[in-house]
Amino acid sequence: MTTIPKRVPIPRNGVDYRGKIVLAPMVRSGELPSRLLALKYGADLVWGPETVDKSMIGTIKKINPITSTINFTRYPSNASRTQPVEQKESLIYRIHPTRERRKLIFQIGTSSPTFAVEAAKLVAADVAGIDVNAGCPKPFSTSGGMGAALLQTPDLLASILTALVKEVGAVYEIGISVKIRLLETPERTEALVRKLCDTGITGLTIHCRTTPMRPRERAIREQLRMIADICRETGVACLMNGDVKNKDEALELIQEYGVDGAMIASAAEANSSCFRTQAEGGLLPWREVVHEYVKTALEVNNKWGNTKYLLGQLVPGKAEVYRKVTSSKGYTEMCEILELQDLLDQAREVDERLGLGVNYKGAVKKAKTKNKSAQAAGGSMGKAMAHGNESKKPLSERGVTATTAKDMGGSYDVECQDPLMEQGISASSVLAV
Ligand SMILES: Cc1cc2nc3c(=O)[nH]c(=O)nc-3n(C[C@H](O)[C@H](O)[C@H](O)COP(=O)(O)O)c2cc1C
Repeated sequence: MTTIPKRVPIPRNGVDYRGKIVLAPMVRSGELPSRLLALKYGADLVWGPETVDKSMIGTIKKINPITSTINFTRYPSNASRTQPVEQKESLIYRIHPTRERRKLIFQIGTSSPTFAVEAAKLVAADVAGIDVNAGCPKPFSTSGGMGAALLQTPDLLASILTALVKEVGAVYEIGISVKIRLLETPERTEALVRKLCDTGITGLTIHCRTTPMRPRERAIREQLRMIADICRETGVACLMNGDVKNKDEALELIQEYGVDGAMIASAAEANSSCFRTQAEGGLLPWREVVHEYVKTALEVNNKWGNTKYLLGQLVPGKAEVYRKVTSSKGYTEMCEILELQDLLDQAREVDERLGLGVNYKGAVKKAKTKNKSAQAAGGSMGKAMAHGNESKKPLSERGVTATTAKDMGGSYDVECQDPLMEQGISASSVLAV
C-alpha cells in the first residue's frame, strides 16, 4: 500500500511551490520589468523585492491606466498632512495584475506580527502569496529585528508566520511562506525548520548559506536533504536557493537533494534567459535580452534610474557601449546608443511622460552650469551643497553602476547601504508613480 504524502492545503488563490523554478526576491533588481522578463523566459513564479511593513502601511492603491499596473503610493511619513500636494509621492510597490496574475509573491520585511498583518492585507488580494524575509544579513534589516535577526528569535518569527496564516492567508485564501538561511549547526537548522513548518505555512525557501557568508562564497548543500525531508514530512513545499545557475541545473539539483523547486537570484539578475532550458534554446545573447528588457521597461514606464541600474547588470562591462549606456540620461539616448531603432518612438514618449524630455543634453548642461554658479556663489559651501544633494539620492540615481556595486562586494550589499533602505524604504519607493 502506498502512502499519500502529507501536504499543507494550498488555498484557492494561492500557488503550490512544488515543481517550480522561480525568480528570487531582489531589491532593485526585482522590480516590475525584471519580473515580467523572468516570466517571459520561463520563470514559474516571481518574488517581488523585500518591502518593509512600515513603508507599505499608509500606502494608497491606485490603478495607472497608461501602464495597466496597480501602484501602491504614499507621501513621506513626515509630510505635512495639510499640504500633501507639495510633497513628492513615492511609489512603494507595483504589480501588473494580468501579466503577474497568480505568479507574484510579495516579500515582506518585518519584525512584528501586527505590522506584518496590516501591511500584507494591503496587497493580499492582488498577489499569490506572502513571503517573510528571514535571511537578509544587513544591518538596516537586522538592527530592526528583521531579516536574518529573526533566525535568532524563532518564537517571534513563528508568531509572525502564524498571524499571517490566520489573519491574511485564511482570509484572502493565499499561501504564507518564509525564506531563511542555514544556522551554524544542522541541529539548530533542524529545530528552526520544524518550528516554522508547524505554523501553517505552505512553503519554505532555504538560502544555502549561513548569515555571515558573503554572496561570493559557495553555497553549502550538506543540510539540504535534511531540510527537504522535514518539509516533506510536514507537507510544506521546499525551495532551494544559492548558486543555482540556470533551469537545467535547477532540475538536476531538485533531483539530487529531493527538494520541491529552486530559486535563482544572481544568475537571473545577469541574464534572465537562464530560465530557458538548453532544449528551449538556453541562454540568449545579452543584446537580445537587453532589447526585451528595454521594451518591457518602456511598456510599464519604469523609473529611468532603475532601468539604467538594470542595464548596468545586463550589458557586459567589457562591451564597448557599457560606459555610454550607464551614463545615458534617458530612454531615447540609451536606445540610440544601443541602436534599438524599433523602440525609439516609444522611448521619446516615455521620456516625455517621465519628465526626462528630449532635451536631456541641454538639461545636463544646465545642471552643470547651475552647480558651477552655486560653487562660485558659495565657495566651499556651494560645493558641499552640490555633493550633499547628490548623496541624498538613491544609489542608482547617483550613477553607481553595477560594476561599482559588484566591486563594493555584491549589489545586495550596496542596496543595504542606500540611505533609503536604512530608513526601511524599499528601492521600489524610488520608482516613478
Ligand atoms: C541585488 C540583490 C538583491 C537582493 N534582495 C533580496 C531581498 O529583497 N530579499 C531576500 O530575501 N533576498 C534578497 N537577496 C538575496 C537573494 O534572494 C538570494 O537569496 C541570494 O542572492 C542567493 O541566491 P543566488 O546564489 O542565486 O544569488 C538579494 C540578492 C541580490 C543579488
